Amino acid sequence: MAARERRRFPIAVIGPGALGSVFAARLSKVVPTAVIGRHTVELPQADWVIVLVKAYDTPAALRTARRMKPRGIVSLQNGLIESIPQGVTTAAAYREGKRVVPVATGLTLLPPGFAALGTHLRKAGLAARVTRNIRAARLRKLLANVCLNPVTALFRVRNGALREPPYATLAEALALEAVPVLRAEGLAMTAGQAIARVMEVARTTARNRSSMLQDLLAGRRTENDHLTGALLRLARKHRLPVPTHAALHRLIRVMERALESSGQRRI
Ligand SMILES: NC(=O)c1ccc[n+]([C@@H]2O[C@H](COP(=O)([O-])OP(=O)(O)OC[C@H]3O[C@@H](n4cnc5c(N)ncnc54)[C@H](OP(=O)(O)O)[C@@H]3O)[C@@H](O)[C@H]2O)c1
Repeated sequence: MAARERRRFPIAVIGPGALGSVFAARLSKVVPTAVIGRHTVELPQADWVIVLVKAYDTPAALRTARRMKPRGIVSLQNGLIESIPQGVTTAAAYREGKRVVPVATGLTLLPPGFAALGTHLRKAGLAARVTRNIRAARLRKLLANVCLNPVTALFRVRNGALREPPYATLAEALALEAVPVLRAEGLAMTAGQAIARVMEVARTTARNRSSMLQDLLAGRRTENDHLTGALLRLARKHRLPVPTHAALHRLIRVMERALESSGQRRI
């Protein structure tokens, strides 16, 4: 690292992809925001670092984040990230070639200690607040992710299809299977509430293609191991059966490998 003083930014976003670009574009209008990609040469310092790389790239992003000497590092990724404080966001965007298409600014929930970052986000027009019960929010997001992503990816349908036959019964079965695991993790949720939650997310994001579907269609690696894989790890910990989730995890893995061996996949 060069000996000369590095510039210090109030905020840095690591991961200039779909969601990172949307956050960075909005934030940079109201506060100096550093955008850090894989090959950023001159790494600045930053007060608050938002990590928005895919879950499997977290270790490298975290090493970068720590070198920025921040007051706080927060992940807004999907999956259960345990190595850094994690918030959740319903903001959405996707990549179309080199273009990023914003879908929704949504609501961002932050863990305790990130009130100052929340203030920056709100100034940037992004609804955000700190919640003490961030663990519950993360588990609720995981529920929606493990019910929506593999089914939409496998059958190549948009999120809204999960509310209708023939996919609704599968989505419901997945929700019912996940509930005991999430409850064992401390989430107060009944089976009926879990199904209602999944159907509500399918309704509000009906026109969206899930990230797992988008990744498979683009020949990219999915976050399978950090979404369904995270649920499988929790289920093992609590010795609870999740056979349908396990089967879907395996099927998505096979689809990824099939793409890889046919040369369509680029990782
Ligand atoms: N997109 C959404 O609507 C949405 C909504 C909610 C949550 N999320 C979550 O947010 C995370 C990011 O999703 P995304 O859709 O924005 O993914 P994405 O479009 O693939 O963007 C990830 C970006 O991170 C970059 N990157 C990878 N490793 C890096 C590193 N070590 N340092 C700096 N940059 C690095 C990638 O570069 P390369 O292109 O070179 O790989 C890419 O530009 C995921 O966990 C996703 O589940 C996304």
